[in-house]
Amino acid sequence: MDAGQIRKAYLDFFKDRGHKVIPRALLVPLNDPTTLFTGSGMQPLVPYLLGEEHPQGTRLVDSQTCIRVQDIEEIGDNRHTTFFEMLGNWSLGDYFKKEQIPWFWEFLTKEIKLDPERIYVTCFIGDEAAGVPRDSESAEIWTKLFTEANVQVKQVDIDSEENGAKVGEQGGRIFFYGNKKNWWSRAGTPGEMPAGEPGGPTTEMFYLFPEIAHNPEYGEKCHVNCDCGRYIELGNSVFMAYVKTNDGIKPLPKQNVDYGGGLERIAAASLDSPDVFKISVLWPIIEKLETLSGKKYDSYTNAMRVVADHLRGATFLAVDGVVPSNKEQGYVMRRLVRRAIRFAFDLGIEQNFLEQVVPVIADLYKNDFPEVAKNRERVIDALIKEERVFRQTLRKGMQTLPKLLKKSDDEYELDGDVLFKMYDTYGFPTELTLEEAYKQGWGIAGSTQKRFDFLLSEQRERSQTASKGTFKGGLGGQTMQHKKYHTATHLMYQALRDVLGNHIVQNGSNITEERLRFDFSHPEKVTPEQIKQVEDIVNEQIANDLKVSWEEYPTKVAIEEKGALGQFGDRYGDTVKVYKMIADGADKPFSFEICGGPHVDHTAQLAEDGKRFKIIKEESSSAGIRRIKAVLQ
Ligand code: ALA
Repeated sequence: MDAGQIRKAYLDFFKDRGHKVIPRALLVPLNDPTTLFTGSGMQPLVPYLLGEEHPQGTRLVDSQTCIRVQDIEEIGDNRHTTFFEMLGNWSLGDYFKKEQIPWFWEFLTKEIKLDPERIYVTCFIGDEAAGVPRDSESAEIWTKLFTEANVQVKQVDIDSEENGAKVGEQGGRIFFYGNKKNWWSRAGTPGEMPAGEPGGPTTEMFYLFPEIAHNPEYGEKCHVNCDCGRYIELGNSVFMAYVKTNDGIKPLPKQNVDYGGGLERIAAASLDSPDVFKISVLWPIIEKLETLSGKKYDSYTNAMRVVADHLRGATFLAVDGVVPSNKEQGYVMRRLVRRAIRFAFDLGIEQNFLEQVVPVIADLYKNDFPEVAKNRERVIDALIKEERVFRQTLRKGMQTLPKLLKKSDDEYELDGDVLFKMYDTYGFPTELTLEEAYKQGWGIAGSTQKRFDFLLSEQRERSQTASKGTFKGGLGGQTMQHKKYHTATHLMYQALRDVLGNHIVQNGSNITEERLRFDFSHPEKVTPEQIKQVEDIVNEQIANDLKVSWEEYPTKVAIEEKGALGQFGDRYGDTVKVYKMIADGADKPFSFEICGGPHVDHTAQLAEDGKRFKIIKEESSSAGIRRIKAVLQ
């Protein structure tokens, strides 16, 4: 089966078991300031995992496009990609371990026809300090399944990766690991999780590629969680039954399942290839690179993998509306394109080549993702433009470089600081700077590489600390303060339409514990008088204590017949949840908007402690788009 067939087989398999297929969320999360990208299938579903009702019911399945840039330096090995599709199935307080484990086993062994002898699994060893017990129940279910398939089962406690590298597999089939490996939350171990964050023990499935020899660089002995590439993880079933509170880990009101597994890796296992780049949605990109460069994948594996991966990721970011820039998502996209161009130099490709590669990528996805077909030309244009900008930067960098060099003993010398400045400020690949130095006959200081590595690691630490901060800071995600600002956003959206007109359409929204931010289409500045009017309307509606509730409708009915506000047209599924804010006894709601929630129950909650709604900033966000920041104070 190719990747597209596996995606379909997976969705169908779970559809047959009572699941509703939901559309993917965009790569840039909506209403979630905590992360730059959708990095797992569960991310858009957090409110529902915490107990909010989902309009599609309690069994959901999807294939979620994800970006994980934490892995960017690992690209080049056999299994990491920055962009990937995460197959996901969810039980929202519905089924649990005894359904999930046998279903996934059946999918892997019967549908995909993987060899049961090569499947290995892990379970949670328990965390006494957090009060979460050992997951013997999952291990028992696995034991039964393996035994029925005539596979020998031995359970082995490993606990940590360090210990795994010391003690090895020991002939085990089911391995118990601790909270660094078999506990899942978006924010790490039970101890690391902030209050409000859901999590739970996991059971993971791995596939063995016996032809790959263990590489001792990764530890003395191999074990399933070893990074040498002998075992490839096919999926992770999170039994999300807990939430962190100020009093520690507590059970959620309902037990959920959050399964996530990389489509790319399952497709590779199905081809019996440990190399994900051999699958149907990556290999044609590599073939194109072979043609363009006249080089072979076998000799230029690493560079070709980086180029293929990065351009695929950048293409999908463009599909989802990201534009290269020096900030946030745009910066990551820029970095992907630039790294791709730089690695293409290693292949001898020094001319513009994106216009030849991006169409290949778009064609791989155009049938399964209509938005790729629809945006094909725009996406290709955006990437070609970014390539031109970068090549111009490179030319400028070439001119600047000599001016940065120091003279020692009458000879120009390149050192680590200059190499880093070229890399960091001018986006100049180190290889190119060094090559230029050789060409010009400049000296290269002995400490150059060391100093460069030091500066780079320092910078990485800085950016990691920064991104951790963003993540933790916002992770309350669903606190009362978020709900209040979310409800205030709906009120303000309607108030803006009342004051400025019905051309006002939401373009983006971002909520933190401190404020709301709202982008919308409007050709000119909103005047102070208009701002005052909007504030007055919102405060009046808060005082009217509108009741907040939701109803579910077929999408078409919600938008066309009921006139619900919504922003993403064809991005919705078949049915949608519409939030209604209505005054007691009124026959028409003040606000009626498609939304996943969560919200407060009554608008008067926004006025607790005498707070009032206030717009603190109105500015231009981009051409034709205004941005408002507002607070409850
Ligand atoms: N949410 C789980 C993960 O990302 C399935 O691994």
